[in-house]
Amino acid sequence: MRIGVLTGGGDCPGLNAVIRAVVRKGVGVYGHEFVGFRDGWRGPLEGDTMPLDIEAVRGILPRGGTILGSSRTNPMKIENGVERIRENLASAGIDALIAIGGEDTLGVARQLFERDVKVVGVPKTIDNDLNATDYTFGFDTAVNIATEAIDRLHTTAESHHRALICEVMGRHAGWIALHAGMAAGANVILIPEKPFDIDRVCEYVESRFKTRYAPIIVVAEGAHPIEGQMALQSNELDAFGHVRLGGIGEMLAKEIEKRTGKEARTTVLGHIQRGGTPTAFDRVLATRFGLHAIDAVHEGDFGKMVALRGTEILRVSLEEATRELKTVPVSRYEEAEVFFG
Ligand code: F6P
Repeated sequence: MRIGVLTGGGDCPGLNAVIRAVVRKGVGVYGHEFVGFRDGWRGPLEGDTMPLDIEAVRGILPRGGTILGSSRTNPMKIENGVERIRENLASAGIDALIAIGGEDTLGVARQLFERDVKVVGVPKTIDNDLNATDYTFGFDTAVNIATEAIDRLHTTAESHHRALICEVMGRHAGWIALHAGMAAGANVILIPEKPFDIDRVCEYVESRFKTRYAPIIVVAEGAHPIEGQMALQSNELDAFGHVRLGGIGEMLAKEIEKRTGKEARTTVLGHIQRGGTPTAFDRVLATRFGLHAIDAVHEGDFGKMVALRGTEILRVSLEEATRELKTVPVSRYEEAEVFFG
C-alpha cells in the first residue's frame, strides 16, 4: 500500500514519534510505502507532498514539532475541498491516509471517511480534551513544563509578597491547569468548565497572604468569570473570536490588585507548553499510537482512531472521537478545590 501521513492543528510534542513508529513498522514489518503531506489538510488539498521513508524519520523521536509541518486548514470550509483532496490523493497514488490531529483535524478525517476516503486517525493535543481516549500525547509534556514554571513562581511570589498568576493553555478544557495546578500546589485553579467568582478568588488570595506563603493562581486561557463580573472587552478577542493568550491572566491581576490592594503579576506560558522535546511518557504513548495506527491501516480498519484506555491501545470510531470534547468533570475539580486558599 501507499499511505499518506499528515499532522494537523496546533503542534504537540510527540508528533514525530508517531510518524517514526508508523513508518518504521509500516516499511519494516508490512512493506508499505509512505508519502508525507505538508501542513495538515493543506497538503492533500494542494497536493503538497514530501518523501517519507526510513531515512526521513531517523533521529526524530525526541524532537518536538512535526517534520511534516502543520496548519489549521479545513478543507470542508473551502470550495470543492473534498474533490480537490480526492484528486490529489489519486494522482499521488495514495491508498489510505493516517491523520494525526485533534478534534478539528479528526473531524475532517471523519467527514472524509463518510465520503469513502480511507483514513485512520491518531489523537493529538496538549489540551487532552479529545473524547474516547484517556490521554493524548503532548499533555504530559505540557503539564511538566507548566509544573516546573509554577514551582518557580512560588519562591519569587514569596520573596515579593505578591500574588502570581500563571496562565496556561486550554481554550475549552482545563486539564493542563488542573494537573499542573495540583502538581505544583496552586492555591486557586480556574478552568473554562467552571465560571469563577472573583470575590471568592480574592478571599483565597487574602487568606493565603495571612500565611508566610504567597498566593499562586493557575488559570486556563479559556476560564471566565460568572456572568456579570469583569465583562470581557471585545478588543481582547482575536480575529477568530478567541480570547487572546494573556487576556484572562492580565484581567485577573488587575482585579486582584484593585480588590485586595496587593501586588499581582501574570506569567503567560503560551506556546512554551507546546514546544521542545516530549517526556518519556509522551514518547511511549505516541510510539504506541503510531504502531497501532499502521496495524489498523494494514488490516483495512478505516474510520477509526487509536485510543488509550487504561494501559491498552484500542480503536474507536472517528465519530465517537469527535462527537464532543472531553472536559474536566466536576468531581475532578472538587478534588483540587480541597487545596484552595
Ligand atoms: O493545541 C491546542 C491549543 O494549545 C489550545 O490550548 C490553544 O488555545 C491553542 O492551541 C492556541 O494555538 P495557536 O495560537 O497556535 O493557534
